[in-house]
Amino acid sequence: MTEQPRADRPDPSPTRILAPDTAGIEAAAESLRAGGLVAFPTETVYGLGADATNSHAIARVFAAKGRPAFNPLIVHVLGAEAAEALAVVSPMARDLMAAFWPGPLTLVLPSRGGASVGASGGVSLLATAGLATVALRAPAHAVARALLAAVGRPVAAPSANPSGRVSPTTAAHVLAGLGGRIDAVLDGGPCAVGVESTILALDPAPRLLRAGGLPVEALEAALGRPLDLDPDLDPDSGRPQAPGQLASHYAPTGSLRMDALAPAPGEAMLGFGPVPGDLTLSASGDLAEAAANLFGHLHALDAMGTLRIAVAPIPDHGLGRAINDRLARAAAPRP
Ligand code: TXA
Ligand code: MG
Repeated sequence: MTEQPRADRPDPSPTRILAPDTAGIEAAAESLRAGGLVAFPTETVYGLGADATNSHAIARVFAAKGRPAFNPLIVHVLGAEAAEALAVVSPMARDLMAAFWPGPLTLVLPSRGGASVGASGGVSLLATAGLATVALRAPAHAVARALLAAVGRPVAAPSANPSGRVSPTTAAHVLAGLGGRIDAVLDGGPCAVGVESTILALDPAPRLLRAGGLPVEALEAALGRPLDLDPDLDPDSGRPQAPGQLASHYAPTGSLRMDALAPAPGEAMLGFGPVPGDLTLSASGDLAEAAANLFGHLHALDAMGTLRIAVAPIPDHGLGRAINDRLARAAAPRP
């Protein structure tokens, strides 16, 4: 029995797929300036972009993702100069931007004016969830940079997936999760890094809020000191420090078991290095390759209807720390 279209329940408007060329980027920029939602590639994962200064557009981002309003968004800029307009940039923050921007590092900094502004072209209070800080990142992907230049405004962009699900590393992943709920996706092919940016708070001492695409070791070398490496719990409140770092997150439909050396009956196996699997994150044990494959393989297992996933042990250094963080959240009990 086929369902008839009903006048009172029109099909959702289709999501346009834009090529990553001049015309596609201009169309994406025009849509963003008009308050639209456009997913775009970055070197980490696809972001769901909206004009960070437009509260209506930001409200649509939360609605499209089903994201809790207490969870603030990362604001994307071209570089340090644009960051200075939005946040108070300390000498340490400036040094980190010089060392790692553009790239997979998000810095949480005091937002200018605290209450962010809104009326005078500043970042919408909805985007920062009313916090006195703003999370800023300069992405390294050429298409993202061309888009930011064409928009001429800061672009808020969470990962372009329904809240709590696996982040997208291709335009097809974006469409599978958010197709019909957003205006367009700029298809720039697969993301090279494959896990989200590393998030560092400077308040004013550096504090790691999320392991990610920039290895912690690189940050520690630049800072000349070890970082607080327990990102999960705020010692005072016992709550997650980055409001989005909820225990269950990045979750495929199936359940997930870590540190498995072989699949149990009924499990699909995700291998790494010497541990074989139905799919492998990296047969040669390369952590960068594993990070780039991680979300794509989880999406593929989801698409195959896999109900139970076992994952081989991943070394907990370099990009392995970000991979294990995402796997632990995918494995956590669901609310
Ligand atoms: O690689 C990335 O960071 C990707 C691409 C698209 O740039 N974006 C991304 O955004 O991962 P999202 O929304 O999935 O994760 C943003 C994280 C959340 O955990 C959020 O709580 C945290 O950043 N965050 C944002 N603003 C914050 C703030 N002012 N203080 C603390 N954490 C903040
Ligand atoms: Mg996300």
